[in-house]
Amino acid sequence: MRLSLALLLLVLPACPGPAVPDAGAEGDAGAAAADAGIDAGVTVEPACLPALVVDADKADAGRQFLFQGQVGGQMVPRLAFDNLWRVWTNVPPADAPAAIRERYGFAPALSANDGLPMGFRADGANVRVDCLVCHAGEVAGQTVVGAGNNRVDLELFIDDLKSLARLVGFPAPNPPALRTGARGVNDIIGMTMQLALRQGPAPGPVNTEVGFQDAPAWWTLADKTRIYTDGSGPQTAHRTMMATQLAFGATQQDLERLEPEYVALREYLLTLKAPAWPFAVPEPAAVARGRVVFRERCTSCHRDDRCDRAETTLVARETVGTDAERSAKYGPNEVALISSSWFGQGESYRSTGSYSAPSLRGVWASAPYLHNASVPTLEGVLDSSKRPRFFRVMGTRRDDYDPVGVGLNVEVLPAAPVNPPRAERSWVYDTTRPGLGNQGHLFGDALTPAERKDVLAFLKTQ
Ligand code: HEC
Ligand code: HEC
Repeated sequence: MRLSLALLLLVLPACPGPAVPDAGAEGDAGAAAADAGIDAGVTVEPACLPALVVDADKADAGRQFLFQGQVGGQMVPRLAFDNLWRVWTNVPPADAPAAIRERYGFAPALSANDGLPMGFRADGANVRVDCLVCHAGEVAGQTVVGAGNNRVDLELFIDDLKSLARLVGFPAPNPPALRTGARGVNDIIGMTMQLALRQGPAPGPVNTEVGFQDAPAWWTLADKTRIYTDGSGPQTAHRTMMATQLAFGATQQDLERLEPEYVALREYLLTLKAPAWPFAVPEPAAVARGRVVFRERCTSCHRDDRCDRAETTLVARETVGTDAERSAKYGPNEVALISSSWFGQGESYRSTGSYSAPSLRGVWASAPYLHNASVPTLEGVLDSSKRPRFFRVMGTRRDDYDPVGVGLNVEVLPAAPVNPPRAERSWVYDTTRPGLGNQGHLFGDALTPAERKDVLAFLKTQ
């Protein structure tokens, strides 16, 4: 009797536990996931969740709303948008729309779009700004809906609009601060906190600066059970994503009136698919070997490739070791504020103290990596000695994809430039700045160089 109990106790911790459940104590969940990571190496049948059943009609209505409906608000007079170049030059650019796209990192639209970039829509004398300004980006020279825009600097755009408003006299937009840490990396959670504070009193001191993050790929939404980098939101939530539109000229009444459309828009997101790897097809034998390594070393946290969908694993931030800011600053007071605001009513927001292990579907297309986009390539994620401290993102050049390292082809700098011009500043990623650290996630360091290459080959096929 005694002996068998002892045996049981010996065996238990070695068993890969079930994926971290959606409910329950977050701290424990993180610790459990961490243990699972350390004990990786046992190949077992993955614990999958059934694929979501998507309402096709609703998704279609959502797609139409996103591309033709009144998402966002009328933020900018069209005339102002077209004349933005006057803020930085006296000489009219030969191709003003292209110059505007390049400066702010807007992606080209997929249709004529009245000459406006992705994420903007002409509406009478005004221009609307929508989700796609952040959630559609250029991947290897092609605009992809659902890929986080890794070049956008909206803080610069808003600053320039204010300057132009002073210059020519139109009512300047005055959104809450949206700090941009680097191209594509902003503090949208901090902005949401400022918006929530407008709705009512906070339960105590609340952080309005909540680290930095890039926009996760929309096509992974159907894979998960918790959203946001720290897993703080339930996958079903839609109002916190609507909140962003308040910053761009939409009113609370607009959001309440259009709520069913936003619910449909969320349904559309569940139908998006990751783009296929567009470069040389990886060698099948390498892919097969990489799959074995992946299942043994990575799926204790990341969704197994055999699962359509899986419970999201939250990993304590001390265990994953990546930049702490984003997770640390979203604490109980921040959750209480969101939960008491219109954005969080009826939803289970939580302070997790963790980062969620994202689904790696189409991960090749969502560079740069980690929640704060601090690592340009997958090679660097898997080998921490290959992570640049200072790097420059290559503007909107079309040859910026690195098919070997798998990710962004960046210019590595010896140091951060001193006092660069305003527009130049965010092109440089400085990993020594608060919230932009590139440390942690050392799980690939133990792999051999050959294993790493194989995992890269495998990830290209996902
Ligand atoms: C200013 C840029 C920006 C705009 C505009 C924006 N988002 Fe996001 N979105 C983000 C960022 C950044 C995150 C990641 C936040 C985090 O994880 O902390 C995010 C997260 C999300 C997520 C969760 C993704 C996940 O898997 O964790 C969804 C869904 C989403 N946004 C939908 C939308 C929709 C729909 C709109 C328009 C109504 C929108 N967003 C507008 C930047 C933006
Ligand atoms: C102990 C859990 C754990 C293990 C094991 C693990 N990861 Fe992760 N992984 C995470 C977490 C958590 C994150 C998010 C960290 C962050 O963004 O700060 C992450 C992030 C990543 C990212 C960045 C994704 C993106 O879109 O930015 C990649 C790529 C990745 N992991 C690949 C791997 C591979 C390959 C392995 C196996 C060699 C592995 N991971 C093993 C937990 C884990």
